[in-house]
Amino acid sequence: MQRILSGIQPSGVPTLGNYLGAIRNWVALQRDHECLFCVVDLHAITVWQDPATLRSATRELAASFIACGIDPKAQVLFHQSAVPAHVRLGWIFNCVARLGWLNRMTQFKDKAGKDREQVSAGLYVYPNLMAADIHAYHATRVPVGDDQRQHLELANDIGQKFNHDFGVEFFPVIEPLILGPAARVMSLRDGTRKMSKSDPSDQSRINLTDDADTIALKIRRARTDPDALPHEPQGLEGRAEARNLVGIMAALLDQDVAAVLREQGGKGFGAFKEELAALLVEKLGPIAAETRRLLADPGTLDAILRDGAARAAAIADPIVAEAERLVGFLKV
Ligand code: TYM
Repeated sequence: MQRILSGIQPSGVPTLGNYLGAIRNWVALQRDHECLFCVVDLHAITVWQDPATLRSATRELAASFIACGIDPKAQVLFHQSAVPAHVRLGWIFNCVARLGWLNRMTQFKDKAGKDREQVSAGLYVYPNLMAADIHAYHATRVPVGDDQRQHLELANDIGQKFNHDFGVEFFPVIEPLILGPAARVMSLRDGTRKMSKSDPSDQSRINLTDDADTIALKIRRARTDPDALPHEPQGLEGRAEARNLVGIMAALLDQDVAAVLREQGGKGFGAFKEELAALLVEKLGPIAAETRRLLADPGTLDAILRDGAARAAAIADPIVAEAERLVGFLKV
């Protein structure tokens, strides 16, 4: 069986983008894979996080995973900082990856913006730690949204360079799983920007904790164009906002975009948005309620995370110990 690993940063409330681009696919994949799902708190502190908020966001994200359908008994659900293997392998990868490779990372350029001299060194080496998250478990399949494609290519470059440098076939090739019609959910305010939990405008995203009225209002206000919906996918070309909303509906219905347009083609956005909002409320409402229920019992959540960390460490520790031996660290 192939091993899957994926993670989300506890840097805010998870969004519809995290759900459709990642978590929803994890829930489907867990049926026939051994999976590790990680709340990546080490990654979150590459930008400033208030300590108390980070602690609660870590628990809240773990609760969301379970509320979305991740089974923490069958799969391993844990938070990254509880498993030191990530940092141990991350350091080795800092010494394997080349500066030139990191300089090409578009996400670093986007996040650092004009303030390049002022961002943390952690933000720069972030992709090396992400490679370590995956390779520490010899995971071979990584389900993510489209924005993580370049990071996974780098993770493969790092694994292959390690193998080459030490003359081994130790780290396997990773296959990105970028699935479904909503692998890149865009902002509701600007169809050229991705929906993000760290966008300053709350109107730009649907949070998994939003109530029905908030969802309806955000969808009603979502930017669109004046034309009716087309009958075929080609008619969405050059219409980023329309394409985004149709993609969201398709993902929620488990259909492709063409099937949605066969149904919705010819409608104006008023009617379409009403249907989309109702569908979102139907799908996300139970997730928000279940998240709240789980958060009322933090002791149980903490026990799940503790158990997950122990099971994750049991897999990663021998793999990372072997990587350290290959590098030449004296084991006494
Ligand atoms: P993060 O926390 O930004 O996002 C978590 C997951 O959600 C996906 N995603 C989206 N998918 C579609 N549309 C969107 N608007 C959208 N926004 C986010 C992301 O692609 C991702 O799958 N570097 C990662 C976290 C990470 C990781 C890992 C992932 C750390 N180590 C190891 C996989 C394996 C990140 O920042 O995700």
